[in-house]
Amino acid sequence: MCGIVGYIGKADAASFLINGLRRLEYRGDDSAGLAVMEDGRIAVAKSPGKVSTLSDRARAEWPADRFERATTGIAHTRWATHGPPTEVNAHPHLDRSGAIALVHNGIIENYRGLRARLEAKGHLFLSETDTEVLAHLIGDCDKGDVFQAVCHALHQVEGTFGIAVLTAREPGKIIAARRGSPIVIGVGEGETIVASDASAILAHTQRVIYLDDNDIAIVSADSVDIRDLNNVPVIREIAELGIDAAAAEKDGYEHFMLKEIHEQPHSLANAIRGRLDFNLGSAVLSGMGTSARELAELGRVVLVGCGTSLHAGLVGEYAFEDLADLHAEVQQAAEFRYRNPILGSRDLVVAISQSGETADTLAAVREARQKGAFVMSLCNVVGSTIARETGRGVYLHAGPEISVASTKAFTCQVAVLLMMALKLGRGRRFCRDEGIRLAREIERIPQFVEEVIRLDEPIAAIAESYAMTEHAFFIGRGPMFPVALEGALKVKEISYIHAEGYHAAELKHGPIALLEKDTPVIAIACDIPGKDKTLGNIEECRARGARILGLITDGDQEAAAHMDDAIAIPRCHPLVATIPAAVALQLFAYHLARHRGCEIDQPRNLAKSVTVE
Ligand code: F6R
Repeated sequence: MCGIVGYIGKADAASFLINGLRRLEYRGDDSAGLAVMEDGRIAVAKSPGKVSTLSDRARAEWPADRFERATTGIAHTRWATHGPPTEVNAHPHLDRSGAIALVHNGIIENYRGLRARLEAKGHLFLSETDTEVLAHLIGDCDKGDVFQAVCHALHQVEGTFGIAVLTAREPGKIIAARRGSPIVIGVGEGETIVASDASAILAHTQRVIYLDDNDIAIVSADSVDIRDLNNVPVIREIAELGIDAAAAEKDGYEHFMLKEIHEQPHSLANAIRGRLDFNLGSAVLSGMGTSARELAELGRVVLVGCGTSLHAGLVGEYAFEDLADLHAEVQQAAEFRYRNPILGSRDLVVAISQSGETADTLAAVREARQKGAFVMSLCNVVGSTIARETGRGVYLHAGPEISVASTKAFTCQVAVLLMMALKLGRGRRFCRDEGIRLAREIERIPQFVEEVIRLDEPIAAIAESYAMTEHAFFIGRGPMFPVALEGALKVKEISYIHAEGYHAAELKHGPIALLEKDTPVIAIACDIPGKDKTLGNIEECRARGARILGLITDGDQEAAAHMDDAIAIPRCHPLVATIPAAVALQLFAYHLARHRGCEIDQPRNLAKSVTVE
C-alpha cells in the first residue's frame, strides 16, 4: 500500500528518497511526495501520479543546489484512502506552523473528531486526509519538544500508523513510530534510513531494526534511540536482512511478474530444501515449534489469509484432510477476526501471508492467540509483523516478490502446506513408505514447474487468441477448485478481464446462464479423482457454445478430446499437481495482460500489501 522512506546522513537526500520511493512503487500507489530539510526550513514537493512525475517536478521546481545540500528528508507514495489522489492530498503533510512534516501509512480512525477539535482551536486544513489531522495534532501538542509532542499525539489517535516526522526545530533528527503498520530502520555507516519496507533499504545496508507496535524512534545519522510511547527506553536488536539486492531487480525480464513466474523452480527448491526427511518419510519444519505429542493431539487446523494466500489455504485444507486426517477449514481473515471463532487449545491456526503485514490476517492472529489456539504463520517476508507476532511458523524463502500479483509466494505457500500436511500425516495416518513416496513427489515439484515454464511460448500463443474476451470462467474440482479461483484472480487483477472461478459442479446452479457462443471456460481437468465429472461439466459448457481451454495431464488424449485448446502439465500426485497447474494459469494470465497492453506489475487500484482493513 502506501510507502515511507526517510533518510538522514551524508548523501543528497532528495535523490536518495526518490530512488527509495521507486523501490516501493511496486506496492501500488497513485501519488507521491517528499520533504527535505534545508537551512533549518522544510521544503516540500508533491505530485499525483508516479514517482517519476514527482521527480520531474522536484527537479524542475527546486533549486539545483537543494539536491546537493539537503541531507535529511522523508518521502511517501500514497494509495488513496481518505480523498482522491491529488497533489493536496499527497504526503508529506505539514502542521499549522509549517515546521513539522509527516508521512503516514495506515488509518487514523478517529480523525473526524480530532479534526473538529482542532478546527475549533483555529486550525485550517487543506486536504481531506486523516494524515493532515495527525500532523496538526503533533503541532498542537508541541511545547518545545517534538518527540514529546509526537508521543502525546499518538496517545490520542485510534487506528493504525507507521509514521516518519521531520521537524525544522531539530534538523538532525527523524522521528519514526508504528502501530499496526510496519517501520524498519536501516543502520548504515554514518547514515540511517527509515522505511515501511526493507526494499527501500537493502541496496544500502543489510543491518536493520524492526520497530514493534507503539515503539517510537529518534533517528539521527549515527544513532537510533527507541522508546515506548511513555518515553521508556526499549531495546530492539539489529537484525541482518539477508536479502540480495539483485533479487529485487528485473534481471532482463520485461516485468517482475514474468521474472517471478520463471523463478519458481528456484524459489520452490529454496522452500523445500532441507525440509524433507527421506529416512522417516516426513518433513522437518522446526519453525513450527511443536512436539510430536502436541501435533498428535491437534483436533483441527484453521487456515486464515486473504486473496491469493487464502487460495493457498484452500489447497492446504484438502492436504490436511487427505494426508493428515485432520479436520481443516479455511477462513477469510477479515471474517474470522469479527465472527467470534470457536477456538481452543487443540486447534492449530495457520496464518498465511506473503507480506506478513496484511492487516486482517494480523488481526486474525491476535484473535486466535487471545482464544488460546496454537498459532503459527507461513510468511515470505522475514521479520514481518505476522512472523514476529506468531513467533513460530515456516518461512517460504521465495525471495522478494515485487509484482503486485502474487505468483511465487502462492506456489511456495502450497509447497510448505503440503510439507506440513506430510509431517502431520506421518504422525497420525500413513506409514513410512507412503511418507517417503509423497516426500519424493514434493521434492520433484521444481522439476514439474520447470516443465510448465518451458511451455511459456505456446501458452503465450494460446493467450493471444483469448486476449480480446471480456469475460472468462475458471472451473475445477477437489484441490483444483482453489486453483481455478486463483487463476481467475490472476486474470482479473492484471488483465482487467472479468473472470470468475467456480467449482465445476456449481456452474449449472446459476452461472451457466452467462455462457454464450465463444465465452472462454478454462477448465482444470487434470487426471486426478473427479476428472470424469469435470469432463461432463465441460460438455455442458460446450453444448452452450463455450470455448474450452483445458489444463490436462500430459498424454491424456481422452481429456484433450474435450478441449478447443489445451495446456498439458506433468503427471504427478493430485495435490502436488496444483502447483504446476497454478503456474500454467499464471503464464496464461500474464500473456493475456501483455497482449492487452496492461500495466502488469502495478495493476490499477491494487496495492502489494494491504495494511488497512
Ligand atoms: C493477489 C494478491 C493478493 C494477496 C493478498 C494477501 O495476487 O497478491 O490477493 O494475496 O492481499 O496478501 P499477503 O499474502 O501479503 O497477506
